[in-house]
Amino acid sequence: MNILLTGGTGYIGSHTAATLVAAGHRVILYDNLCNSQASVADRLQTITGHALPLVVGDIRDTALLSKTLTTHQIEAVIHFAGLKAVGDSVKDPVTYFDNNVGGTISLLQAMKAVGIKTLVFSSSATVYGVPHYLPYDEKHPTGAINPYGRSKLHVEELLSDLAHADAGWRIACLRYFNPVGAHDSGLIGEDPSGIPNNLMPYVARVASKALPQLTIFGSDYDTPDGTGVRDYVHVMDLAEGHLAALISLSKGDSPIRYTNLGTGIGISVLQLVDAFQRASGQTVPHILAARRPGDLPAYYADVAKAKAELGWTAKRTLEDMCESTWHFQVTSRHANK
Ligand code: NAD
Ligand code: UD1
Repeated sequence: MNILLTGGTGYIGSHTAATLVAAGHRVILYDNLCNSQASVADRLQTITGHALPLVVGDIRDTALLSKTLTTHQIEAVIHFAGLKAVGDSVKDPVTYFDNNVGGTISLLQAMKAVGIKTLVFSSSATVYGVPHYLPYDEKHPTGAINPYGRSKLHVEELLSDLAHADAGWRIACLRYFNPVGAHDSGLIGEDPSGIPNNLMPYVARVASKALPQLTIFGSDYDTPDGTGVRDYVHVMDLAEGHLAALISLSKGDSPIRYTNLGTGIGISVLQLVDAFQRASGQTVPHILAARRPGDLPAYYADVAKAKAELGWTAKRTLEDMCESTWHFQVTSRHANK
């Protein structure tokens, strides 16, 4: 299948590209490079042995999207492109809605114009908001608590309306939990510019001594060790989830479905730090500090629907997540010297 990946040079997009090419698909990357680098396409060529075309463009450029869909005879789109920093979305909601919601509208217009109706959308567990119960299953009420989350929820609602208007669409909304880890090659991974907001990249930088210590936000939560609990999922498992979603869309007759992609296992900040220290052989100095505003104490996925509908379960362990993150950290540090 010819598959367009918007946001294809980004963290999750690049890993999914590697998985799709390995499964025999032809992948075209489309990215404006606002949070990734064109060199990712070269690294993907090294990994896969295939040249992956990269179209540098914005998803809000409907004409360029339409042209790309036609030129490359695209049959399905996986829509990763989006902005994802919660703090920035609070400061500048207009930019977030323009990019995430406006960008998706532009993509849907281009897809409609050329008659492509198969779409996988990068949604997030953040659409569930404050837990009414755990684990979150897909029937859990939605209620995002920040502009980033609301932009994802708006897109889900738009896609739901679209699927009801035209049952010819095949749409999968994948609600990712906390993606971490890297490709085994060490050539691609999560490499945020500046100081990372998220836990795993921050821990990796402390272990490599690029940052002095980790600040643990909150040690008085109602969790087994008092620190926040999340469902960390290996990015290569997530990548395989996209492949499974595409296969299931081609077989299914439902115009839209929503699926959690997580492991179903809650891991605390201290557990992750401990696992990372073991995997890397480095110490991760840390201090306990106040809770981060807006953080939830704990959440994790009910993964029964992913197994039943996609035939997908996450296979990789927390150790695999930490080892691959460390391997990428060390490899990219050498590459940048
Ligand atoms: P990322 O920032 O690494 O990748 C997103 C890519 O989209 C980047 O390469 C960026 O340059 C590109 N992009 C952004 N706006 C664009 C635009 N207007 N036009 C073209 N390209 C554009 O992020 P990621 O972690 O790979 O996330 C991919 C998707 O998954 C995002 O939509 C994100 O919201 C969603 N998601 C991510 C996480 C996570 O923790 N990483 C969790 C849940 C959902
Ligand atoms: C955050 C976003 C969420 C997004 C997700 C992507 C917020 C409020 N939520 O989720 O919308 O989908 O990233 O993966 O930003 N922690 C520390 N010290 C740090 C960093 C994090 O203790 O320096 C803790 C946090 O308090 C939390 C856990 O580590 O308990 C995970 O944090 P993080 O990786 O930022 O992810 P989320 O907060 O789950």
